[in-house]
Amino acid sequence: MDSILVRGNGALSGAIPIAGAKNACLTLMPATLLSDEPLTLTNAPRLSDIRTMTQLLQSLGAEVASLQDGLVLAMSSHSITNHTADYDIVRKMRASILVLGPMLARYGHAVVSLPGGCAIGARPVDLHLKALEAMGAELDLRDGYVHAKAPGGRLKGAVVEFPFVSVGATENALMAATLAKGTTEIRNAAREPEIVDLARCLKKMGAKIEGEGTSTITIEGTDRLGGATHPVVTDRIELGTYMLVPAICGGEVECIGGTLDLVESFAEKLDAAGVSVTQTNRGLKVARKNGRVQAVDVTTEPFPGFPTDLQAQMMALLCTAQGTSVLEEKIFENRFMHAPELMRMGAKIEVHGGTATVTGVEKLKGAPVMATDLRASVSLILAGLAAEGETIVSRVYHLDRGYERVEEKLRACGAHIERISA
Ligand code: EPZ
Repeated sequence: MDSILVRGNGALSGAIPIAGAKNACLTLMPATLLSDEPLTLTNAPRLSDIRTMTQLLQSLGAEVASLQDGLVLAMSSHSITNHTADYDIVRKMRASILVLGPMLARYGHAVVSLPGGCAIGARPVDLHLKALEAMGAELDLRDGYVHAKAPGGRLKGAVVEFPFVSVGATENALMAATLAKGTTEIRNAAREPEIVDLARCLKKMGAKIEGEGTSTITIEGTDRLGGATHPVVTDRIELGTYMLVPAICGGEVECIGGTLDLVESFAEKLDAAGVSVTQTNRGLKVARKNGRVQAVDVTTEPFPGFPTDLQAQMMALLCTAQGTSVLEEKIFENRFMHAPELMRMGAKIEVHGGTATVTGVEKLKGAPVMATDLRASVSLILAGLAAEGETIVSRVYHLDRGYERVEEKLRACGAHIERISA
């Protein structure tokens, strides 16, 4: 297993290109199952999760060609031969559940392994299943798989009301509804930019969708969908992560491709902490307004609130802030695993349930630490960039799931960072 060695090297400045969004790409790729015409994605991120989704779609019989060094995914599912998504792939990446809605909507049946939990929580898929049942699906859970059937081979339009916001369940319901007979209304829908991007792509394929980006999405089902070519939206979580580099180290970084609308609540928090964020014609320019950042309180919420996927990274910044910050994690039940690792670097953090209280220190100290999940891994890298001495982050396979070419992007800003292959 690879590790990454980081050596604190003072202020970092330069330009960092932001890639296409992992969490948009992971729902855009299964959309190919909705049509027998080609779907091509551009601006695709080069990540291990994307390669896993590629394997899954290919295991179903879809064609997925990765072109231009992975930036373009040319897909076609005109000859699906297998309607079973196997556990050995699904267990590697929970987003695999997103093939269920499209496969059921297009073919009238699907067998998909239940994804199981992950480090940050149990992460059930009950809302995905309830939404499909509301649209007429008959589901039989056995041997760890969902055996799904649409009576008469077609789902029917329905009102789908979510008790709380779920990104993945909204995506599954949205994709399934495009081919259902009649109208579907999704209430308490997720409003994330990745949902809006999916809707934009589906509309290019001929879907009739209104309200994406709001809490109520209305879909008029059609008999078939065509092909499309669609650019994956910029990754707001990678963007937010790299915005924290000058915040925690000093210096000035321009995140190329970044736009304020993707990170509004996050940028507001940075502003309150003493970090300026300016839209340029290339992206977002970020720098401290003056010296050390100030403590701020953070509560994670569904979009447009503060993103849970930036909580670990923000905690790293607040470990070096002046004052005490309170972070509340409201989305997942176990998403503070980076805290004990940051404490090994001298951070002062107290965790009680879903609340972490962080008392800032002048300087963190480099130490060997362990990545536990995707966002925790990059939080430790951020801490290492600002710390005195050397930090070695182990188990960086977590990192490679969601961040492409981290060393390259950070080295371009003057960081001392290298990968140590085990
Ligand atoms: C998506 O996960 C993202 N993943 C996550 O990013 C992100 O943290 C999350 O949305 C919240 O923004 C992808 O898009 C691939 P949810 P998802 O359904 O869809 C509970 C990353 O780091 N829930 O919005 O799985 C769930 O347990 C990853 O890139 C149910 O109880 O998240 C959680 O507590 C991590 N039943 C809450 O809802 C369900 O059927 C929100 O989950 C579904 C979800």
